[in-house]
Amino acid sequence: MKTVGTVQELRQFLRPLRDRRIGLVPTMGYLHEGHVSLIRRARKECDVVVLSVFVNPLQFGPREDYDRYPRDLDRDARIAEQAGVDVLFAPSVEEMYPEKPLTTVTVSRLTDRLCGASRPGHFDGVATVVAKLFHIVEPDRAYFGLKDAQQVAVVERMVRDLHFPVEIIPCPTVREKDGLAVSSRNVYLSEEEREQATVLSAGLREVAEKVQAGEMTRSRQVIDYLQGRISSKPLARIDYVDVLTYPDLTPVDALQGQRILVAVAVHFGSTRLIDNVILPEKEEVPCSER
Ligand code: PAJ
Repeated sequence: MKTVGTVQELRQFLRPLRDRRIGLVPTMGYLHEGHVSLIRRARKECDVVVLSVFVNPLQFGPREDYDRYPRDLDRDARIAEQAGVDVLFAPSVEEMYPEKPLTTVTVSRLTDRLCGASRPGHFDGVATVVAKLFHIVEPDRAYFGLKDAQQVAVVERMVRDLHFPVEIIPCPTVREKDGLAVSSRNVYLSEEEREQATVLSAGLREVAEKVQAGEMTRSRQVIDYLQGRISSKPLARIDYVDVLTYPDLTPVDALQGQRILVAVAVHFGSTRLIDNVILPEKEEVPCSER
């Protein structure tokens, strides 16, 4: 595996490989099984796998965890190499933003709710850095996790609106044995918070079953149930619980006959966790097969 820190080195590496299928997995590093599942999928489907590791300051709010976001490039490089990455792109902030950008990408409407509402400017930062990475790498395919379903919807829409010649591959959420969605931020949780945080995946599983069994037919029922379930945990502070169509992200009342996204964001102490389920469900990756 080659590791490069500059746009020029990466382009030089990729120049002789342009007739091959290039897969990009964009990450902020501190790699875990969720990231590894994207890399493995890219490895299976592409000739050249590019992994980017860049904690993008543009997508963090002023009071968010940019400074304390976990970073360990040596560990990331070991995991990446084992998972089959060909080239690791780990640029500095100065390399990606030599000056304050005057050009940014805004995807409207899809970013009005959920994390877009709780984190103003977040998706401008995401769309801008992903657009830059697409121009730098020029991948044939790019792999994104449905753990961040709104991010997938936003990136897919940007690609359509701006004619990026890339295919977006959404990948299922990887979970711990007890259901907690794997996340770089899980390392912040205390033992007690970690235990109570399982309410997110448990609650989402319960509503998925109730909706699929026809026991819940309206968004309000899903939202009320999840709010009650999550509030039963004393360390949980709800940011949002919402039900929207997917990937359009418009509010719905009756749940039948369309794809819907049930999404939650909950603070445990200073840690904000998100999770979701898209109904009707396709199969997720069972832990035993990771
Ligand atoms: P990061 O949070 O590092 O996530 C990188 C990719 O891994 C995203 O596509 C995310 O959805 C996916 N991912 C995270 N946890 C996952 C899990 N448990 N199962 C499956 N996939 C998972 O998302 C970002 O970085 C950034 O916003 C980025 C797109 C890199 C732009 O800066």
